Amino acid sequence: MTNRNDMTLTSAGYYVSQEAPIVTDNPVPTPRTAPPDVLRCAYMELVVTDLAASREFYVDVLGLYVTEEDESSIYLRSTEEFIHHNLVLRKGETAAVAAFSYRVRAPEDLDRAVEFYTELGCDVRRNPDGFVRGVGDSVRVVDPLGFPYEFFHFSDHVERMSWRYDLHIPGELVRLDHFNQVTPDVPRAVKYMQDLGFRVTEDIQDAEGTVYAAWMRRKPTVHDTAMTGGDGPRMHHVCFATHEKHNILAICDKLGSLRRSDAIERGPGRHGVSNAFYLYLRDPDGHRVEVYTQDYYTGDPDNPVITWDVHDNQRRDWWGNPVVPSWYTDASLVLDLDGNPQSVRARTDSSEMAVTIGADGFSYTRREDADASTEGGASDEFKLGNQL
Ligand SMILES: [Fe+2]
Repeated sequence: MTNRNDMTLTSAGYYVSQEAPIVTDNPVPTPRTAPPDVLRCAYMELVVTDLAASREFYVDVLGLYVTEEDESSIYLRSTEEFIHHNLVLRKGETAAVAAFSYRVRAPEDLDRAVEFYTELGCDVRRNPDGFVRGVGDSVRVVDPLGFPYEFFHFSDHVERMSWRYDLHIPGELVRLDHFNQVTPDVPRAVKYMQDLGFRVTEDIQDAEGTVYAAWMRRKPTVHDTAMTGGDGPRMHHVCFATHEKHNILAICDKLGSLRRSDAIERGPGRHGVSNAFYLYLRDPDGHRVEVYTQDYYTGDPDNPVITWDVHDNQRRDWWGNPVVPSWYTDASLVLDLDGNPQSVRARTDSSEMAVTIGADGFSYTRREDADASTEGGASDEFKLGNQL
């Protein structure tokens, strides 16, 4: 619950406040152990059912670089990366996420990770040789929200491909930018992630204080991961950055030319949240991949937290374009540490799709229009209704 009296309305239509605008009545206990010092989101291990089809999507279409591969796995990295990989594709029976992996500052942080999650009663496993190739001592846990999180420090170094313009393509993916997770109770998730040392940069709420999503960072960008309210634990998307907007448009053009426009789920467009230019794709297993560019610096300790009204038509797309229903409903399963899919728990708070689309929903492009209308009368502002 957040009191909007503590927030300042900006000329662009969102509110600003300071850290921790979200409070939970169902907290994960705060461990006595200090959390590991997380540097950044580093890689995702993704289980795919058809390795050749996934290789074609991620390597031939999106242009990620192959660090190494064999008959069961492919290790991929983005242009600017110097650690071994940003994405592991592993062949398996069920399409799912095996690990959201974060790099920590020092080897000692792995001891802290073990203590932190042991105190929380989580399944904690450590492999001094790494669970995948190219990384050293690693700790994997099933976190209190049910997600398979990994922490590692050591990685083999590989060549940064930034100077290899002879290999670059128009849609070059230059960095891993963030993860996005689906969880039923966003305030509970935010408080746990704050205990893990993350800071909130943006969120979506309603006037009653229901929190629909929150974005959190370690590196000084808008996020390393976001929590999206929904049935979970599930993985909403993994996101790579390009340098420029035109790189994202080039990916759309290429998919069109390949007669694969059905891989484009949403966008291209400009986000309200994060201010980034974006595109959402679905890989051959349905795993969602975002391509994103030009969010903003968040590294100062008093970086303002931005809160968007869930009824603001421009929060998820600055141009007011609709969010397609699949974007709200579809997400990937996540695995426990034995490789079994985690069971999914339903969200009980209101869903963002329900409160912004449909007979009971309403939204606005100009706040004063919504205020002046009769109750619910601003729903015709939402473009999706006009298109159906
Ligand atoms: Fe994203």
